[in-house]
Amino acid sequence: MTSPPVTSQQTTELITGIAELTTQADDRERLLDAALVIENGRIAWIGSAADAPAADRRTDVGGRAALPGWVDTHSHLLFAGDRAAEFEARMAGQRYEAGGINTTVRATRAATEEQLVANALRLRLEAESQGTTFLETKTGYGLDLESEVRSARAAATVADVVTYLGAHVVPQGHDRRDYLDLVTGPMLAAVAPYVSYIDAFCEAGAFDVEETREVLLAGRAAGLGLRVHGNQLGFSGGVRLAVELGAASVDHCNHLEAADIDALAQSTTVATLLPACDLSTREPFPPARALLDAGASIALATNCNPGSSYTTSMPFCVSTAVLQMGLTIDEAIWAATRGAAQAVGRERGPDAVGSLQVGGLADLQVLDAPAVAHLAYRPGVPLTHAVWRRGVRPGVGGRPV
Ligand code: NIG
Repeated sequence: MTSPPVTSQQTTELITGIAELTTQADDRERLLDAALVIENGRIAWIGSAADAPAADRRTDVGGRAALPGWVDTHSHLLFAGDRAAEFEARMAGQRYEAGGINTTVRATRAATEEQLVANALRLRLEAESQGTTFLETKTGYGLDLESEVRSARAAATVADVVTYLGAHVVPQGHDRRDYLDLVTGPMLAAVAPYVSYIDAFCEAGAFDVEETREVLLAGRAAGLGLRVHGNQLGFSGGVRLAVELGAASVDHCNHLEAADIDALAQSTTVATLLPACDLSTREPFPPARALLDAGASIALATNCNPGSSYTTSMPFCVSTAVLQMGLTIDEAIWAATRGAAQAVGRERGPDAVGSLQVGGLADLQVLDAPAVAHLAYRPGVPLTHAVWRRGVRPGVGGRPV
């Protein structure tokens, strides 16, 4: 798996003028009047501005708030075309169904690999300009061997983590059993070099619990981690299966029974919630408050895709989670950074993301606001002032924006 290339920084950079620094370290502390030093793409020092050491370069952010870059762990960026007409019909009362996926499959198969990469890169840069520094994306709009491999290969050049979603739906014109054999056999073997997770859409109109189990077990046997699209449109059983198999994440979770919430709370599986998708599909929001109160871990992600959630904006997801799902500011920001890192197995270790700690990656953002509360206090206002990914500001020695 390759991450997008970045140029490592050889000099030290002191960032000062941080009115409020949210580190998302274990103590969840917010530092006031803080500073930090970046060296070789990592955080070399964090502390009070008054104690800041000298550095080769100094950037004064002028009394703004800083926090880790967003960790977006659910997107489907490998596609062509859009589905604005389907969206418009939905806003006029039509229900979202899995069938629309085939529209994007047709457009994706007709596109070249270069077009797929260009579109995905456009969206990655759009996300980055809103503070996202780590991104997962999936295959799932190819749905034949050649097209899924093309998507996986392209995804590996654009995203930090790639998930294989051959089990998105059974494509039109395919026998169900034959397609499952393809997804769990030759297609899995062919995409394996490019992906680190396997996923399946466990829902009416896509795959049932036993089919999902078969797909996930094949992926696990091939060495992949597990993710599930579960309980989005109904009580699909996907959540319980994800917990049973120890999946890293189960995503959507709109329709949960008390037993699902208990199962998640007793597990290490993260419930990844996708509020922009819920607004676009007009599904009820997941019971985020009940999940947190029960002790479950949650993440927030965009689910950027042309069908159910065409946005790259993590700030929109954070403000929606606070204003409409009952999360506190701290809970929503945690779920979009450190909690999200847990959903991709990157919460701890030298390449941990979603937190700012000495020795860790310098993936951070500065808001055009003095406090993180402004993310929900000023909803819809673009508040990203600056972003550093691996210590480099995109467009300033990093990739062009
Ligand atoms: O996560 N739910 C399944 N897959 C995507 C939507 C795909 C589409 O409608 O194109 C999702 O919402």
